[in-house]
Amino acid sequence: MNNDAPVNAEAVGGKPYELSIVTTADGSKTIYNAEVGELYHSRNGALQESKHVFVNAGLNFFLANTNTTEVSILEVGFGTGLNFLLSADVCVDRQVSLNYTGIEAYPLTPEIMSQTGYEEYTSSELWKTYITQYPNALLSQVTLNTYTLLQIANCKLQAFKAPRQYDIVYFDAFAASRQPEMWEQEAISRVAAFVKPGGIFVTYAITGNLKRMLKALDFKIEKIPGAAGKREMLRATKITAP
Ligand SMILES: C[S@@+](CC[C@H](N)C(=O)[O-])C[C@H]1O[C@@H](n2cnc3c(N)ncnc32)[C@H](O)[C@@H]1O
Repeated sequence: MNNDAPVNAEAVGGKPYELSIVTTADGSKTIYNAEVGELYHSRNGALQESKHVFVNAGLNFFLANTNTTEVSILEVGFGTGLNFLLSADVCVDRQVSLNYTGIEAYPLTPEIMSQTGYEEYTSSELWKTYITQYPNALLSQVTLNTYTLLQIANCKLQAFKAPRQYDIVYFDAFAASRQPEMWEQEAISRVAAFVKPGGIFVTYAITGNLKRMLKALDFKIEKIPGAAGKREMLRATKITAP
């Protein structure tokens, strides 16, 4: 592992935890959380994973199958915002209005985000507005450009409340081996309730248990090729209202 810039960040409401910047196999960077013992993205390529799992299998799939000019996304585990940035650029290019909500229990500082180099992968206007408005997005919804609204709920998934459902859920929690509670019935049922009928849930992993839980919650399951280093990932479409 290539840890080049160790920093300390203050966990909101908790003790300081150690984060460092790590370069992944495709040259893009991610963050390593020493307390959890886990990377924020795949070591086989952060950018590749984000594009494959969330943007292509999630957003682009949804847009290709609907004739919509607006889309809402809920992300569990907002982290660096890489999934958000790539999604926002797609929506600007396609002139689709994006209403994006991230849930993040331990928000990163803009300083560490600036060390990721993610401005290379997004338009410079979006990056500048994002990095400036990020602290405000943690407090309330902000408008980043004509097409993009962002808000980040600074809470645990278990405490998140919203008076609405979303077209797409990006489920980007730490792996079940590190954070099993995020992949158990209570958390998955909670997230599933935020998906609109006809909406989709995507995540980088697939297990028999996850498939069974989502099937029982009235989702149609697809096992599709995973990002680099993973054979398969999961996409699930909600069939009816809960
Ligand atoms: C795999 S990382 C997500 C990476 C992120 N999507 C990105 O592109 O940078 C998991 C994220 O979940 C957050 N997290 C951990 N426990 C959580 C919880 N109970 N509720 C919400 N977020 C949580 C972590 O702080 C971390 O940012």
